[in-house]
Amino acid sequence: MKKYNVAVVGVGMVGIEMLRVLKQRNFPIGELRVFARRERDINIDGETYSIKTIAPDSFKNIDIALFAGTEGEKGAAVSFAQQAIDNGAIVIDNGADFRLHSDVPLIVPEVNPQAIKKHRGLFANPNCTTIQMVTALNEIYKRFGLEQIILVSFQAVSGAGRKAVEQLWEETERVVTSHKLQATSKNLEPETWNLKPEACKLAFNAIPQIGSFGKHNYTTEEWKTVKETHKIFEDSSIKITSTCARVPVFNSHSESIYIRTKKDTSLENIEQALKESEGIIFFKNPQDLPLPLNAQGKDEVFVGRLREDPFNKNCFWLWCVSDNLRKGAALNAVQIAELVCEILN
Ligand SMILES: NC(=O)c1ccc[n+]([C@@H]2O[C@H](COP(=O)([O-])OP(=O)(O)OC[C@H]3O[C@@H](n4cnc5c(N)ncnc54)[C@H](OP(=O)(O)O)[C@@H]3O)[C@@H](O)[C@H]2O)c1
Repeated sequence: MKKYNVAVVGVGMVGIEMLRVLKQRNFPIGELRVFARRERDINIDGETYSIKTIAPDSFKNIDIALFAGTEGEKGAAVSFAQQAIDNGAIVIDNGADFRLHSDVPLIVPEVNPQAIKKHRGLFANPNCTTIQMVTALNEIYKRFGLEQIILVSFQAVSGAGRKAVEQLWEETERVVTSHKLQATSKNLEPETWNLKPEACKLAFNAIPQIGSFGKHNYTTEEWKTVKETHKIFEDSSIKITSTCARVPVFNSHSESIYIRTKKDTSLENIEQALKESEGIIFFKNPQDLPLPLNAQGKDEVFVGRLREDPFNKNCFWLWCVSDNLRKGAALNAVQIAELVCEILN
């Protein structure tokens, strides 16, 4: 079997999961190089990885470079992706910088693998919220079309990187500790909880803003769910609207999704489509709840709570949950790399 020299850039929440997924899927690695801003050794599941500081010559003889650094002007992909490509590597980027560029395929392998063919050396991984939604809706879209999608997301803090996870731990610990110190029966009264918004930014809270505000007062995260879904389905006629909220869950995003199909259909047809979908596990029994704690560490998107809207024809609700660090980021990126290997062969 052909082997590939692989570089991983960034060892935050996504980069670490990427190293884990590469190993778990026995990706055919020749040489592995791991880069970040700071040199150090890290341990993942008992294996030590030596992290080097990224530099312009980091990508010599690299076949595939998986980027999971920060976004923006000084981010890893904007600073180094072109250098990697110029050195002959194929780049797969987790960030938002290139996702909507017309010459950059935006891929979810279960949904649009055909998009891999036309490229300039750079592939983008969609946003985690979009990946799990399009995976859940793919088969329904193919069979019945989609007129409208209304999404409300409940997003885990790991989606905001390592610092946000640390912040949730610290805030939770602080509140629980002070609560224990004053532990009396009075603590069931709201005023004794001592939960000040300034001290609890993530813990015990729900924040209906992810990213900054843009057109129509939608946030950047909300626009990602609209524009990326249009690009992946190659269909900008779908009327998509969303509200994305951060909740104090460590990992795995939950989504409440309302759809209206284009063609006439039935609950049974939608069930059948979900049962036959690639990459999802469908819970038909309404008592089987897809929960973020159950999705943690799993590869699939879990879908349940399917029901029809009794007042509107061809309209349905479903609830979907997925590990945002795996299918929402690292796993999807490695699956793209596997597709790329098929092309390179
Ligand atoms: N978290 C998710 O669920 C998720 C889902 C989809 C997409 N993404 C995207 O994936 C990327 C990584 O997210 P994350 O959550 O893993 O972030 P993170 O936990 O904040 O980690 C970022 C990592 O990138 C490294 N880095 C930052 N700037 C760099 C640069 N200029 N050159 C080289 N390395 C650099 C950092 O290095 P040091 O460790 O040395 O500081 C760190 O290891 C982001 O673009 C994010 O938007 C995240």
